[in-house]
Order: sequence, then C-alpha cells, then structure tokens
Amino acid sequence: MKNHIIIYFAAVLFVFTSSLIAQENKENRFVDSLLNRMTLEEKIGQLVELVTPNSVTEKMLSNGNVSSILGIKDADIANELQHIAVEESRLGIPLLFTNDVIHGYNTTFPIPLAEASSWNPGLIEEACRIAAIEAASNGTHLTFAPMVDIARDPRWGRIAEGSGEDVYLGSVIAEARIKGFQGNDLKSKSSIGACAKHFVAYGAAEGGKDYNTVDISERTLREIYLPPFKASVDVGVVSIMSAFNDLNGIPASANYFTLTEILRNEWNFDGLVISDYNSIPELVKHRFARNKAEAAAKALTAGVDMDMAGDDMKWSVYAPHLDSLIKNKIISEKILNESVRRVLRVKHRLGLFENPYVDKDFYKSNMPSFSERKNTALRLARESIVLLKNENNLLPLKKHLQKITVIGELADNPHHPLGPWNTAPILENVVTPLDGIKNYASKKTEVEFIKGCNVEGNDRAEFDRAITAAKSSDVVIMVIGETREMSGEAASRTNIDIPGVQLDLVKEIIKTGTPVVVVLMNGRPLTIPWLDENVPAVLETWFLGDQTGNALAQVLFGDYNPSGKLPVTFPRNVGQIPIYYSHKSTGRPFNGNDKYTAKYLDVDITPLYPFGYGLSYTDFEYSEITTSKRNYNSDEIIEVSVTVRNTGLIDGEEVIQLYITDKFASITRPVKELKDFTKVLIKPGETKKIKFVITPDKLSFYNIDMDKLVEPGEFTISIGGNSRDVISKSIIIND
Ligand code: NOJ
Repeated sequence: MKNHIIIYFAAVLFVFTSSLIAQENKENRFVDSLLNRMTLEEKIGQLVELVTPNSVTEKMLSNGNVSSILGIKDADIANELQHIAVEESRLGIPLLFTNDVIHGYNTTFPIPLAEASSWNPGLIEEACRIAAIEAASNGTHLTFAPMVDIARDPRWGRIAEGSGEDVYLGSVIAEARIKGFQGNDLKSKSSIGACAKHFVAYGAAEGGKDYNTVDISERTLREIYLPPFKASVDVGVVSIMSAFNDLNGIPASANYFTLTEILRNEWNFDGLVISDYNSIPELVKHRFARNKAEAAAKALTAGVDMDMAGDDMKWSVYAPHLDSLIKNKIISEKILNESVRRVLRVKHRLGLFENPYVDKDFYKSNMPSFSERKNTALRLARESIVLLKNENNLLPLKKHLQKITVIGELADNPHHPLGPWNTAPILENVVTPLDGIKNYASKKTEVEFIKGCNVEGNDRAEFDRAITAAKSSDVVIMVIGETREMSGEAASRTNIDIPGVQLDLVKEIIKTGTPVVVVLMNGRPLTIPWLDENVPAVLETWFLGDQTGNALAQVLFGDYNPSGKLPVTFPRNVGQIPIYYSHKSTGRPFNGNDKYTAKYLDVDITPLYPFGYGLSYTDFEYSEITTSKRNYNSDEIIEVSVTVRNTGLIDGEEVIQLYITDKFASITRPVKELKDFTKVLIKPGETKKIKFVITPDKLSFYNIDMDKLVEPGEFTISIGGNSRDVISKSIIIND
C-alpha cells in the first residue's frame, strides 16, 4: 500500500514537473523567436519605461521605442495606446502598464504598516486581490508593490509602506501580498503582476534619512534584508525594483553582487528588474559613474533590465546611450539580449501577447460588489488597530453616553485617513473618525466636534472651546498624530514626537478630569511616553483607509474586540533608535544593578511598547509548552504545542507568537527571533491547544563561511502574545 502511494505521488510530481518544463520551453521558444527578429533599436525600446504618459507620441509607440508606461489609470486610454503598439509597430509587442498600487486602488485599505499590525496574511491577500482587479480594470498590468524593505528606524518615512521590523513577519506578508496581486493564474484578467522593492537594504538608510547610504555586513544583508525578497522570488513574483541607496560602496542599481550573483545566480530569478525612478542616472550623483552613458553601462551590466523614467530628457539613460554602447562594444549585445528576454518573458507570463487590451465587459460582470470590497476594507482596518493602553477598562465605551466630544484636525478630515501613496482613491468613500463615531454611537448621544488645533503649527485659539466642551462630556476622544504627508517617500523626521501643539491640548483636556481616549493616526511609531503615562486609553490606528471611522468606532464601542499587534517596536525616545526586539545579547547584557552593562544613563533600556504587543478587551493566559521529546536530530521536525485560555468575559482573537533562541552558537545570535504565529478566536473561558511545527530551516543561520545550517546545541522555544511576555521551554539538537 505504502509503495503504491509513493509511486502515485512520484508520478504526480513527474507530470507536474514535466508540464512546468514544457511551459518554460514554450515560453523560451516564443521569446527567442521574437528576439531574433528584433532590431537593435527595438531591443533598446523594450528596456524603456515612460513616466509621463502625456509625452508619449504615436511615433514612439509605432517605432517600438517604448516598452512600458507608468501612471495610466483609464481603460480607454490604455486600449488606445496599446492599439498603436500592437497594430502599428513592426512586431506588435504589447505595452506593459504599471502603477503604484500600494494599499488599494479605488478602495483604499490601511497603509501596509497598519495591515501588518493585523498579523492576518489571509486578509491582506484578500485586499490585494481586490486591488488587483480594480487596477486591472483600469489598465494596470503590474504594480510596484509590495515594498518588502525591513525597517527598523521610525525616522524613515517609508516605514509606513512596509511590514515593519521583522524578517519572518515581513516575509510572510510579502508572500501574501504577491499571491493576492498575482492570484493563481497570472494571465487571469483579475490578476496583475507584482514587483518586490526596493532591492536591497533601502530600509537601512543611515540615520533614517531617505535615500541615504547603507553600509552593513553581508551577514546582516543575508539575515535581515534579503529574506523577504527571497520569499517573494520563491512565491513567483514577476519583477523586482532596484533601490536608490548605495550598499557597501556600490549603488543598489548597479550592484552586480546583489542583482546578478544573488538574485539571478543563487536564487534563479528569471523575471524583470526595473530601476527605481531615475536611480540609473543618479549613479552620476553617487559619483559612481562619470556620465549617463557610463551609468547605463554599469546598470545594465549589473542586471537592471528596464530604465524607469526613460522618457525624461534630462534623466533617461538607456534610450539615448545603449545604442552607441553596444555599437562601440562597451557592452555586449548578449547582455542586452538577456535583459530584453526578461522583459518579453514577463509580458508573456502576464498574458499580454494573447490579451493586450482591457476587456471592459469582463470587469462589468466580475468586479466584486462595492459592499464586498467595503467589507474587506472594514475587516482589515479594524484588525489593524492596536490597543496600546486601557486603564481601568475605559474601553469599550458604553453606547448610551450623554455626550462625547471629539477633538483634533485628524478627526474630521477625509484626506488624511488615506495615508501616503494612493493610486485612484475615492475621497467620498472615506469614513472619517467623526463620521464613524456618529454612525455607531447611540442616537441619543450628543457628539460634539471641536478641532482644537491643527496637526502642525502652534495655533491655540480653539483650546478654550475644546476645554469647555470636554468639561461637559462623559468622554473625550482625541484624534491626533501626523498628516498623511509626514510619512512615505522623502518624509523622514528626526523628531518623532506628536507634532505641533496637539500634545499640549491633550494635557489641557486631561486636566478637566473627563476620561480621555487618544486615537493615534500616523505612519510610523511615535515617541509618546507622556501619553502612556497620563492618558487612560490609547489606540494606534495608523492610516486605515476608507473604513477608518467605522473600524475605529467598532473598536471604541466594543463591536469589535481589538486584536492588532505592533509589527515594529515603539521607542521611548529617538535616542534609543535603532531599537528592535531581535537584538544581540552583547558581552554585557543589561543588568540593572551593574553600571557597566548595555544601557543608557538617561532612559530606561526597554522600549515603550515591544514588537508584537497589543491589548485586547479580554485576557489570555498561556501555559504548558510541550514538545514530543527533548532531544532531536538536526534534520527532524519539532512539533510544539501551547495552551492558551481566554480568561476574560468576551470573545477575543489572539496572535500567538513563537520565538526561537539559539542559546550558544559559533556566530552571535539574536536574543530571540519570530519563527511562526497564528491568529485564533478564543471564546470566554475556552482553552485552545495551539500546535506549531518547527522545521530545521527555522533553527538555521549563516555560519562563518556563509553556509546556512543548524548547529547542534540548546534552543529555547518561547511563545506568547508579544515578544516580551512569553513562556519558554528548551530543547536540544543532537550532535
Ligand atoms: C519612487 C519610489 O521609490 C518607488 O517606490 C515607486 O514605485 C516609484 N517612484 C514609481 O512611482
């Protein structure tokens, strides 16, 4: 019987692998036959992406000088341009239309950092499927997402666009996003291609200053910054974007080691690499190339296939320079051919040769209904909210209060909840915090709104009105934080306190004695020690997109029990940065009684809120980590279970997090590393046994020779509801 099963599975595997090989061969034959018919000019054209759609001329398209266009958001325009490329160019190669579909297209979902706080990859995937079909219906073939940069510096504005500080969480979410965009079938009209960016280590910019230099060891590169890209490649991402930063002396957009040796040779990535906007001509600014021609040669040789912003007269590099570089034999046509091949391969994979046009009828009947899309946005938004503090169970609020005062510029503005990066948002669909509170409060409750102050500036003119209103209220909800322009690209800050006079206003309102709930809206961790000490309830809502107000109100009034967990550490002050949970022990780990240990004189060594942290309206108790035995071989699978009990009075979802510590190793290892998690609903009084499976790769690391392996010895398995509060058990990996 057993033999039959093995033979059956071997046969299935054989058929599957053979069909993959056949598909690949067919693709290669198609691409090569096209390539063989192309002129040098046409080949170069395939490496050019235009970013100013208005400047595209019919001649450029019919001559085959354009491969791709960024920023088309209209099916008719897309079809019109495509028609010229397909019908009027010599070889009829279709155009590839790209957009930055970062957290939704028309439906705006929470910003990526918020979505990561949901620790719900399935729901994130669902949101990306919706974004994909909305974008595809308007002509998009490929999105410049997900951003999979690990970010450990909250000063860096682009932390908002990623999944935070952790390698494992970041990789799992990268996979979910790519699966969501690309679906099961890349050629489907509901799918778009994804692009993992920014390759690589862009998030490690010195001082959190956008575009800044990165200088890190190969070990850090391989352990921290590369894994989410590797996960993206393994799940089939069709493209990668090369980054702006220089990495250990070589700009990422001309880095042969990362783009060719690692990405192509080690990982066998055969998709397309596109430069970030102007990152090739910026090699001149890096003073790594003397001029744009040299920049073009260096980028193409390193492995950048397509030049983004190739239409900008001042900046384009491939279009004006590749011809003479090839003719003068400075770069070989073989290298050029390889890049063209990759572009054509991706166009083929996306089905553009069979279906170049937007099929408007398809979307009329296949677009999920508005209410389905809204429902996903609401579920994701509420799961992205993190309850940071809830003294004396101030939350959830009772529904039948007499009066609620809502304060803050951010409470009544539909623009900010959209957060940084929007493609085609619909402003009228945004439910502001104030709208949401009105939607969910009892009809008998008076809801008064007073702006109080702006996010920025020092105008205190409305302070008195806010104080008076607060005095006559049962509760005050203050929505404070950052504007949407304060995070995202080119939005780094050195001071990550609450901007303007917002905190001063909170202090005044607290003095009234009326209970205060602070709702934070921001794109990065902020330094909020005063709030933590003095405000009874604090909610982190980031930027939640269209359903901001409804999601917030569901949490405020207890229609939804918050389950979000921080994907990034909150520092006490900016001087603690970089601060992340998976740090090393050092030779002098912190010991409060001993002066000569790793600490600061002027601030507590711990973060304000640790990675993975987030409260619920109920409590969970962890007990009994069990493994089937204590000693394992290094190739064995370890089954672990833990018991989690809901000790409170209401249903709650808990994110159960599993961390591993390699106790002693030939290379210093982090104090703990997240290796698995699961989100479960537990009823009051119910106990659930949660099982995890630890595969050998989760115990492995790069040794001195950069070989990835498991070293025998003791490992600690820690499980809990955040990275700080865990229970542990140790196991031994035998020699
Ligand atoms: C620059 C950004 O760094 C990148 O993430 C984005 O995809 C491109 N601009 C195109 O908008």
